Amino acid sequence: MSNPFDIKMVERFSGHIRVDANETTMLGVGAFKTAQAIELTLFPLRSSGIGCIASHSIAGKRPYLNPTGGIGRRPYIRFSMGDESRRLYREANVLYWAMALLDFSYEYIDQCIADAEEPPPFDIPRLRFVEAGLLFAYAADRADSTQGPGSKSGTVATTYLAEEIIDGDFFKYIHNGSASPRLFSDPMADDIAEFLAFTQHVQYNKTGGLVYVSDYQGSTTLLTDPQILTHPDVGDGLSLFGDGNVKKGVELFEEQHSCSTNKYCSWPGFNMAEFGSEGDSDL
Ligand SMILES: Nc1ncnc2c1ncn2[C@@H]1O[C@H](COP(=O)(O)OP(=O)(O)O)[C@@H](O)[C@H]1O
Ligand SMILES: [Mg+2]
Ligand SMILES: [Zn+2]
Repeated sequence: MSNPFDIKMVERFSGHIRVDANETTMLGVGAFKTAQAIELTLFPLRSSGIGCIASHSIAGKRPYLNPTGGIGRRPYIRFSMGDESRRLYREANVLYWAMALLDFSYEYIDQCIADAEEPPPFDIPRLRFVEAGLLFAYAADRADSTQGPGSKSGTVATTYLAEEIIDGDFFKYIHNGSASPRLFSDPMADDIAEFLAFTQHVQYNKTGGLVYVSDYQGSTTLLTDPQILTHPDVGDGLSLFGDGNVKKGVELFEEQHSCSTNKYCSWPGFNMAEFGSEGDSDL
């Protein structure tokens, strides 16, 4: 994980997009971002992932100004081009780190299961973060531009965080301000929330109490919009991972994380010492 996402190092692709400018047909709206359906055609098509077929339906996400908090309303007030791309760049970076932290949790899990004498009495939910990239949209020409007045041909009109579309029910499994999984009436979502709380414990332990993924949300297979909570010692207390980085969260983790009621944490094969118990490091 020593190579953070760097826009100068990533692959670039060109193509065109079609966006329904109608704000009533959003895929979803959160407190900070809107998610809109976009049809993407890359030249040439990629062999897999985003843009592997012509007119690929993807999600295009943009931040909006929402002074009231809660879910904002139309018309969404956008940031300046510079602010918008800086915010989305940071989102892409957080997503990149969250992917790495989740992958590494699965490596630990799979290794423990391989080493155990008996398999665990439960199935491991398999989830991953969406594939994502930054999309810089240039106005085509004035006549067929959907970007409105002022967008000149050849200039970046809009930046999007492009993601695979998440279909079906969208759950917010664990909230940013807390390390407790939410309770759901859907047993599968409930199980996933419990599992994701366990992955937080794995990340917390394996990073020596410095970092874990929070704000886990998405479907039962695909996750998006994570936050990374870091201990104040990380990065000399600078905000490395954006506004949602609730530092208190890492300090409160041991208090809030409910280990003994978590079936994944409690399986002996995972070796998760409950906080405050013997053998637990004093972090
Ligand atoms: N990849 C996606 N595919 C489909 N819908 C999405 C996707 N990502 C987010 N959404 C929808 O858009 C909403 C806002 O996106 P999100 O990334 O959670 O922004 P916020 O920062 O405002 O929480 C989500 O609650 C969800 O309903
Ligand atoms: Mg969200
Ligand atoms: Zn635990």
